[in-house]
Amino acid sequence: MKLLLLGSGGREHALAWKIAQSKKVSQLFIAPGNAGTTDAGTNVNIKVNDFEAIKEFVLREGIDMVVVGPEDPLVNGIYDFFRDDASLKSIPLIGPSRQGAVLEGSKEFAKGFMQRHNIPTARYQSFNGTTLDEGLKFLETLQPPYVLKADGLCAGKGVLILPTLEEAKKELREMLGGMFGTASSKVVIEEFLSGIECSVFVLTDGTHYKILPEAKDYKRIGEGDTGLNTGGMGSVSPVPFATKEWMQKVEDRIIRPTVEGLAQEGIDYKGFIFFGLINVAGEPMVIEYNVRMGDPETESVMLRIKSDLVDLFEGVAEGNLDTKTLEIDDRSAVCVMLVSGGYPEAYEKGYPITGVDNVEGSIVFHAGTALKDGQVVTNGGRVIAVSSYGKDKAEALAKSFQEAQKIDFSKKYFRRDIGQDL
Ligand code: AMP
Ligand code: GLY
Repeated sequence: MKLLLLGSGGREHALAWKIAQSKKVSQLFIAPGNAGTTDAGTNVNIKVNDFEAIKEFVLREGIDMVVVGPEDPLVNGIYDFFRDDASLKSIPLIGPSRQGAVLEGSKEFAKGFMQRHNIPTARYQSFNGTTLDEGLKFLETLQPPYVLKADGLCAGKGVLILPTLEEAKKELREMLGGMFGTASSKVVIEEFLSGIECSVFVLTDGTHYKILPEAKDYKRIGEGDTGLNTGGMGSVSPVPFATKEWMQKVEDRIIRPTVEGLAQEGIDYKGFIFFGLINVAGEPMVIEYNVRMGDPETESVMLRIKSDLVDLFEGVAEGNLDTKTLEIDDRSAVCVMLVSGGYPEAYEKGYPITGVDNVEGSIVFHAGTALKDGQVVTNGGRVIAVSSYGKDKAEALAKSFQEAQKIDFSKKYFRRDIGQDL
């Protein structure tokens, strides 16, 4: 079959790497892709939100399946666009409907959904411009630190954690006053939860689900989890505290109620669900939902899936995911992200990247890279993920750190403490 993958980050390179191994795929296209995805398939210069151009390409090439990497086109309704178009509706698209994507697109909706289905999450209330005074009063009932979340998509910047009541009140006024545009016209205020985070992923056909390997990501720029939040500086899988017993709680209290809740509410959902969890004194609670795979979690999770991913996608499309098998590799997999100096604040792009060909025994996934006059150059904050297997986490990490030294570009930076806290 011919498959089109949408997206251009490290997550998409890892998905492309895995999809390209499928015996079912004769040709893989990535739109728009990056300088690395050409190892796995053919890049197509189409933007992920240009649905008309995607339609034209899918029909012209005779694409048999579309897989969506990032949340943006899902929140914009690409699933519905395919479903409601006579010429596209027979072509399966892996990703939730616009209504399903609201789980990520609106924090207020996600919190309400969890409340309706008794899914453990932090206590919260939601406010808008007309209820600012109630919001200020609600803050007074909470203990510091204070967690403020813009309702809509903010490219990962919409969550503020404030140490004092004064700062929380000031930020609430600013958020509701338009700090993040319409994305913060509503703000969720919630109780702060203390614990270690873990990302759990499932693939669902709307009825059945398969639980993929879990992973932990490292969001802060600095070693020892210090400094600003980034898109993610590395990941490890498995996560030691995600024991069989803990994962059973996750399945019983969170995964099953979520999949059943979506079905009960008549929400069409065929794709990945990403549960951002926190382990609070041994009990899993949901911090957030995403409607896609995580980045950089995908760069370790894909290494641990032994089964044919496209066979699983067919199960998603046909509604018989329960008849498919998901085999998981027992080894550890990790990824270390090489980023541009200055990231997540201002940084330069366009530096030549060297040494990728010298990497041996690790897998290099491109994130923010581009090809310029035949040379691979930096083209984003997160540039390259170096992923490795090991018999355990320590061996996999040692491998990634060793191979990461071989790749070079001006102002390269990476965290040398990925996985050390576990
Ligand atoms: P989110 O965009 O909802 O994932 O939030 C970004 C990050 O903020 C999370 O990964 C957590 O590290 C942190 N966070 C969000 N909500 C809470 C909470 N209720 N308690 C503690 N930390 C939180
Ligand atoms: N690694 C977190 C995310 O993809 O949102």
